[in-house]
Amino acid sequence: MQTQESKLQLNDQEKEILEKLAKAGYTPAYVYFERILEERIKFLNELLKDQKNFYYFFALLANNNPHLLSRIIDKGTAEGGKFKGFICSSYEELSLIMSLVNLKEGMYIDYHDPVMDEKVLYRIKVQRGFFEDFEISLIISVNSRYQFNLVRKILKEEVKDNIVKIFLRIGLSEKDMEEIEKNYTYFNYHGKYARFGVEDLEGIMKEVENEKVGFHIYPGTNIRSEEYYEKFVERVKNIYKEFKDKVFAIDFGGGFGVNYEKCRPEDKVLEKAVDVICKEFEEVEKIIEPGRTVIAPAGVLLTSVKDVKEKNGILFLTVDTGFSNFARPYIYEEFHKVELLGEDKEEKDVLIGGFSMASQDFLYGKFGKNPNCKGISPVEPEKLEVPKYGKVEELIGTPVIIHCTGAYGYNMASRFSGRPKPMEILVSGKRAYIIRDSEKDDGLFAGVPDIPEEIDL
Ligand SMILES: Cc1ncc(COP(=O)(O)O)c(C=O)c1O
Repeated sequence: MQTQESKLQLNDQEKEILEKLAKAGYTPAYVYFERILEERIKFLNELLKDQKNFYYFFALLANNNPHLLSRIIDKGTAEGGKFKGFICSSYEELSLIMSLVNLKEGMYIDYHDPVMDEKVLYRIKVQRGFFEDFEISLIISVNSRYQFNLVRKILKEEVKDNIVKIFLRIGLSEKDMEEIEKNYTYFNYHGKYARFGVEDLEGIMKEVENEKVGFHIYPGTNIRSEEYYEKFVERVKNIYKEFKDKVFAIDFGGGFGVNYEKCRPEDKVLEKAVDVICKEFEEVEKIIEPGRTVIAPAGVLLTSVKDVKEKNGILFLTVDTGFSNFARPYIYEEFHKVELLGEDKEEKDVLIGGFSMASQDFLYGKFGKNPNCKGISPVEPEKLEVPKYGKVEELIGTPVIIHCTGAYGYNMASRFSGRPKPMEILVSGKRAYIIRDSEKDDGLFAGVPDIPEEIDL
């Protein structure tokens, strides 16, 4: 029997498709595999199948391609699936979800916005009919007393009629975090300096009278430790106990980890999370909202070798993508699994550079651990299997796969260096479809008037 891990690997047919796409010039491109996305959704549905009042949302922060979101709805809700909605973090993402044609009755949209303002809330008010007609509930997760008051003022009727449900973002205290463990670097998610979490939970909860509220607590990002998760849930329980009678749901957020080097979601953490949440919380509605664990393994960034040289015994490759397309290595100092396509390979010391002029724009290597280093750590060569060659030039045009880039790939792309954003392709069985075209070469002129427009001051 195939394990979940082996089901997430690309098979020969899929690699052949990638090779054909690269040879036909479809690089750089984010390529998603429907088969793998379905595996992930099956896994989550199965994990929550027998759990009462327990659902999952998908976080658009990880990926917001509408074609992929529609597939998540179809697969996630099929045959009693436990997929129940989306979390979005801007009005633009909220509008995108509202225009998905296959949204289903009874689903939730969870709207967070660090800069939620009156205008947006009035726009939501005007759209009340949409939520009523389609029986979609809107969760608004607030992050300050200011936001709490604003939602209650502008959407008073909608809250009363249960069309809008308010969730309070909460966080663990500094003391909680100290008790959990100093080693975990989730400090900005909780404790004194955390951006998220209302400032006066007790005061706000005193004002909650007739309507019940939900809690939203984000555990931290890319969590790879089961122990951390268990301790985290214990602390959430202590907060919940205090306000139990006024809380109808807890959203435990996403952040479940992925081992990017191996392209393997840390499903043990997810399993542990569901297990401890169920043990500690029975009646209350429970939600998790994973992003990366669902979509990261379903996508690769397909690129191609465009320059090559050997220097000091190191093979330097330059590919037609880089940190403007894919920022994770640059931001998080973490390389993903990389594979060069081709037969008959040998191991080499390799560095793969990107197509921007930034000296640190590497897509493969390893980060040197220099404790005195200020700024981003230096990158050193790493072993990689490379097709055998006579002259290095023979490697030009070799397709390169950067694995596990379905999450925080396209969504974090920019136009740094003037490079257009890449296209997105969906592979379904033996077929491939463009699901978002690349930006065009004239993109740098977008929004630039022929004659500068004077602003009326
Ligand atoms: C509130 C919230 N929920 C869910 C997610 C998704 O996290 P991940 O993709 O790590 O599962 C994020 C990501 O930042 C988030 O901020």
